[in-house]
Amino acid sequence: MVEPFPRAFVIGCPVAHSLSPDLHGFWLRRYGIKGSYEKIEVSTENLEEFLKNLQIRDFVGGNVTIPHKEMTYQIVKDRNQSATWLEAVNTLWVENNILMAGNTDSYGFAANMDDFVSGWRDAKTAMVLGAGGASRAVVLALINAGFEQIFIANRTTSRATILVEKMGSRCTAVDWDDIPACLKQIQLLINTTSLGMKGQHSLEIDLSNLPKSAIVSDIVYNPLNTQLLEQARFLGLESVDGIGMLLHQAVPGFEKWFGLRPKVTDELRKFVLDRLSGDAM
Ligand code: ATR
Repeated sequence: MVEPFPRAFVIGCPVAHSLSPDLHGFWLRRYGIKGSYEKIEVSTENLEEFLKNLQIRDFVGGNVTIPHKEMTYQIVKDRNQSATWLEAVNTLWVENNILMAGNTDSYGFAANMDDFVSGWRDAKTAMVLGAGGASRAVVLALINAGFEQIFIANRTTSRATILVEKMGSRCTAVDWDDIPACLKQIQLLINTTSLGMKGQHSLEIDLSNLPKSAIVSDIVYNPLNTQLLEQARFLGLESVDGIGMLLHQAVPGFEKWFGLRPKVTDELRKFVLDRLSGDAM
């Protein structure tokens, strides 16, 4: 009898643009693993049905992308701590016959920082720009890394205030207009807004008030070199781009489905960036 090979997926709506099949396909080929990773477009109406029948269809798990992250969190009750905190799910796997839900975005952010700035966990004060789902994941990573003071600035201050209430006493909301004055005390600045993404306005913030030892990180990866990062480099500040967060957040899922912890290498980084620039043509 032929052993069935593990099958994983990414579900979203639409899902055609997802880079995850390229990423996991690269690792399957690199490690010579017999397995598959497919894109499946699932509408919101069909999400619950899909999740219920996932094991019957012989899937070992998969990724969840927009717009299903929050609804999957509501549906799948066995979750890891990160998904519980973030109230959103990006990774599913089967453990002892039970469908489990997790969120690997905080891990992905921290692992990317570890790759590029080994001492980033020694910093104590950070500012996070934005208050959406990505911001929440970054704030959780900062809390886990031991940051003592985390300022959250958002165009709509009320969203920052809600996030602060959720994430606890180490967080403080800041008005968007007060960012420049606040920068003097910031050791790590992270953009989690959509500003700077292809097709969006750039993030126009004057970084000159940041200390010379500050680190600037942008989770935007298309384009890779955002104006924010260019300004940081011009000022001689350490900078970290966003593609590594996308690559690292995929690691725990691949390991759970296919039994091997894959490496984030320069070759993978180049492969995914080439895919992105191909899309841009
Ligand atoms: P995600 O879940 O991916 O983080 P999101 O919830 O849509 O996405 O959040 C997008 C973030 O980018 C928000 O913080 C948003 O600010 P608002 O809460 O005020 O909408 C921010 N953002 C988007 N466009 C912006 C703009 N032109 N200026 C400033 N912030 C902007």
